[in-house]
Amino acid sequence: MKEIDLRSDTVTRPTKGMLQAIMSAEVGDDVYKEDPTINKLEKKLADMFGKDEALFFPTGSMANQAAIKLHTQPGEQLICDKWAHVYNYEGGGVSFNSGVSCKLVDGDRGMITAAQVEENINPPDFYHSPLTTLVCLENTTNKGGGACYDLEEIKKIRQVCNTHKLGLHLDGARLFNALVKKNEDPKDYGKLFDTISVCLSKGLGTPMGSVLIGDKRLMKNAIRVRKVLGGGMRQVGFMAAAGIYALDNHLEQLAKDNQRASEIAEVLKTMNYIGKVEPVETNIVIFYLEKAENEDEFMKQLSENNIRISNMGQGKLRIVTHLDYSEEMHNHFIDTLRQVTF
Ligand SMILES: Cc1ncc(COP(=O)(O)O)c(C=O)c1O
Repeated sequence: MKEIDLRSDTVTRPTKGMLQAIMSAEVGDDVYKEDPTINKLEKKLADMFGKDEALFFPTGSMANQAAIKLHTQPGEQLICDKWAHVYNYEGGGVSFNSGVSCKLVDGDRGMITAAQVEENINPPDFYHSPLTTLVCLENTTNKGGGACYDLEEIKKIRQVCNTHKLGLHLDGARLFNALVKKNEDPKDYGKLFDTISVCLSKGLGTPMGSVLIGDKRLMKNAIRVRKVLGGGMRQVGFMAAAGIYALDNHLEQLAKDNQRASEIAEVLKTMNYIGKVEPVETNIVIFYLEKAENEDEFMKQLSENNIRISNMGQGKLRIVTHLDYSEEMHNHFIDTLRQVTF
């Protein structure tokens, strides 16, 4: 059997159908906005979320960083959860690119509440503190183990943002996993957020690409910011073709990924060597061994069975299911978990 790589949903290879779509894509120079396939993908996503505009980016990090730049001025502050990807895993880009600081909130599995947002807004007239201008949410949360926001809480956060004139950005790298899980309408998200970044290269399985979706008012400068960040690309319609193919063919598969992750969690909970398994809602399982000193041995026994998972440090182990994780692999992985001994 091929290696079972459960470190992330970014490890997938394009499917045959996706490769065919890539090979037959009609392309042009996207820096001149002349790539028909990019234009088609951007329109498809803008329409899906009921927003004015969308712009293709090479990565989710760049799409998030561009959004932060569009919403803020140097010296200002954004509010996010302490585990937010924009704060922890984008290389310090918030300060590097936008000269902005982050007010970190102690949320629940990467999610924050409207009350926490309200408490963390600096009084705008108190000129000693940075001016709060933006709230960034993440759905699903990565470090929070694929947790999904309750749409009602997001509505309350939107109200707080309206009252205090704050922008609201969504890091939706895995938003499609949440939409499928909760049977939600992307347009509901479009109504609540000013900007949304979605990744095509995670659960949807494309080799690259993220799209920033937003209102015209903000998006009119997005192409300039993307250029400054070095993200203007030429015949990148090949990758947009992969994205269109994924949106048309891979969305349903996400339900399977979510289901397999919850089956893995159920098995883990019955193993005597497991300390704790975080609640599983989508395609990420975070768990802890009962004895952290067994981690190396655990990883070794998995690796002897051709299985790779992530060690996130501080006792946190992570499994992410995805398009290239088949039923056969799933059964083999579960058998292996049952056979681990210390
Ligand atoms: C929640 C979240 N946001 C953003 C990103 C960034 O995506 P990229 O790796 O394409 O920069 C990731 C990547 O894993 C992520 O998990």
